[in-house]
Amino acid sequence: MRWLCQDRRVECAAMNNWIAPSILAADFAYLGDEVRNVLNAGADIIHFDVMDNHYVPNLSIGPLVLESLRKHIDAIWDVHLMVKPVDRLIGDFLDAGASYISVHPESTEHLHRTLAMIAEGGAKPGIVFNPATPLTVLPEVLELVDLVLIMSVNPGFGGQSFIPTSLAKLRQARALIDASGRDIRLQIDGGIKTDNIALAAEAGADTFVAGSAIFGSDDYEATINDMRAALS
Ligand code: DX5
Ligand code: ZN
Repeated sequence: MRWLCQDRRVECAAMNNWIAPSILAADFAYLGDEVRNVLNAGADIIHFDVMDNHYVPNLSIGPLVLESLRKHIDAIWDVHLMVKPVDRLIGDFLDAGASYISVHPESTEHLHRTLAMIAEGGAKPGIVFNPATPLTVLPEVLELVDLVLIMSVNPGFGGQSFIPTSLAKLRQARALIDASGRDIRLQIDGGIKTDNIALAAEAGADTFVAGSAIFGSDDYEATINDMRAALS
């Protein structure tokens, strides 16, 4: 099937879009229910934002929370690590059951080693680019990653406004991914709403993180359906 998708990328990507609610915006008093509700509403994967009040100026959740959720809920767990130094937490997230683990190049001294550590541990490695970080290192590690995440806000908080320059970066990343011939997800994270998700898709994204747009809405299923309709 993969050659088909390479030849007909636009059609395949349209069939293959993933909506990834960020549980940072969920009601933490009912976190398990919130995760079940977005999955029942049609979410494809669960985005799990980890913040340490050092790499980013906010504190969120860690591996214990993932381990607890994973025991009760079957899902693809998409862990976005905003922590520095990152290496010493990788093992904990592997043990907790992360499916994807994405890291920022600035959070490790040896990016190649960190990504290899994630893959060797059985998870899919991802690399994350902040709004002011160029894609310079991406070609060096494309062979190692299963996901490229373009930040469309500065990391640390939900509910921020989408930064439009991220669209050009998505296009650059899409070109590099396509040239590699590898099956790599291209994710966008920050300020994604029903009214701008199509712009990100047109620029090459196939995986869409949305926190406040989904968890801040009254009807998760309607919001996810609206997002899919905007993508079709
Ligand atoms: C920001 C996080 C995002 C954020 C998305 O540091 O990585 O995942 O929670 O939230 P919204 O969709 O509200 O911008
Ligand atoms: Zn995130």
